[in-house]
Amino acid sequence: MNVLVTGGTGYIGSHTCIQLIEAGLTPIIIDNLYNSKQSVLSRIEQVSGTRPLFIQADVRDKDALKKVMLEHQIEAVIHFAGLKAVGESVEKPLEYYDNNVNGTLVLIDAMRESGVKRLIFSSSATVYGDPASVPITEDFPTSATNPYGRSKLIVEECLTDFQHANPDWSITLLRYFNPVGSHPSGMLGEDPQGIPNNLMPFVAQVAVGRREFVSVFGNDYPTKDGTGVRDYIHVMDLADGHLAALKHVGPKAGLHIYNLGTGNGYSVLDMIQAFEKACGKPIPHQFAPRRSGDIAECWADPSKAQQDLHWQATRNLEEMTADGWRWQSANPQGYPDT
Ligand code: NAD
Ligand code: UFG
Repeated sequence: MNVLVTGGTGYIGSHTCIQLIEAGLTPIIIDNLYNSKQSVLSRIEQVSGTRPLFIQADVRDKDALKKVMLEHQIEAVIHFAGLKAVGESVEKPLEYYDNNVNGTLVLIDAMRESGVKRLIFSSSATVYGDPASVPITEDFPTSATNPYGRSKLIVEECLTDFQHANPDWSITLLRYFNPVGSHPSGMLGEDPQGIPNNLMPFVAQVAVGRREFVSVFGNDYPTKDGTGVRDYIHVMDLADGHLAALKHVGPKAGLHIYNLGTGNGYSVLDMIQAFEKACGKPIPHQFAPRRSGDIAECWADPSKAQQDLHWQATRNLEEMTADGWRWQSANPQGYPDT
């Protein structure tokens, strides 16, 4: 089965490609390399024994998409490509709506014209806004507090309308919680360009000496230690969630929505402590004011995915941090340029 993976050289996409190959599927990647490097392909090959076919193109380029879909008899699309930095989205909303919303509309149009009717979309727990309670189930109300989150919400709504009008399509919205860690080989991992926005890549860069200390944004939240609590999920579990979705609901027409999380919440201090254990050294950190737009706590009720997709996260916090450290220590500057 040939699967088109948009954004497949990125963090989650590259790990998913490895799991697809391991399962005997054939990923074909489209990425414009805006936030990733082509050297990721050699790493996928070293780990899996297969170098995926790669087309450097933008998801807003309909002709390029159609050409790939028709030439390679694509049966399903996993759509990771997009921009994901919350802060940047406030500064550059148009870029976010263009890449994330317009990019998805162009993709759907290209799929329609090529006769491909199965889509898995990378959504986010950010669509739950500031949830009234935890754990979060898929029927919680949705809202957005920044252009990035709104772009995900708009895409979810567009895809919902589209699926209702085209009931023979299978569209799956996967709402990821907080992906962390890396492939256990240490060959692939998260390689943010510039200053990391997210907690764990920042912690890893402090551990490897690229940055001096971690700023802990807020220690006065109503949580067990005052710092923010999130549902961190190993990126390999997340990758497996895509395979499970392809297998169990991919062939079924309908609109399918799933949380991909572990159901556990860890605080910022828990995560720093776990990483200290993994790397065997202290991670200097300082308390700083709350980051605007952050919520106190957020974790998933993943039971719907467990029931329907026969999937659940199996890798614990120790594996998340040990694998994250293996990647960062072996690749202190991230992926090579070529
Ligand atoms: P990433 O930036 O590592 O990967 C995205 C890839 O898409 C990159 O390789 C980038 O070059 C490519 N891309 C961006 N715009 C493109 C375009 N217009 N055309 C073609 N390629 C384009 O990000 P990631 O962490 O792997 O995230 C993948 C998806 O999952 C994104 O849609 C993101 O919003 C979503 N998501 C991520 C997280 C997270 O914390 N990492 C959480 C929830 C949802
Ligand atoms: N944090 C710090 N210091 C940092 C970075 C983050 O203390 O340098 C804290 C945050 O305040 C928060 C926690 O660490 O309490 C996690 O923050 P992240 O930025 O790693 O993750 P978020 O939960 O804010 O958001 C992430 C992605 C979103 C996605 C969401 C899904 O960035 O795109 O997870 O739950 F939508």
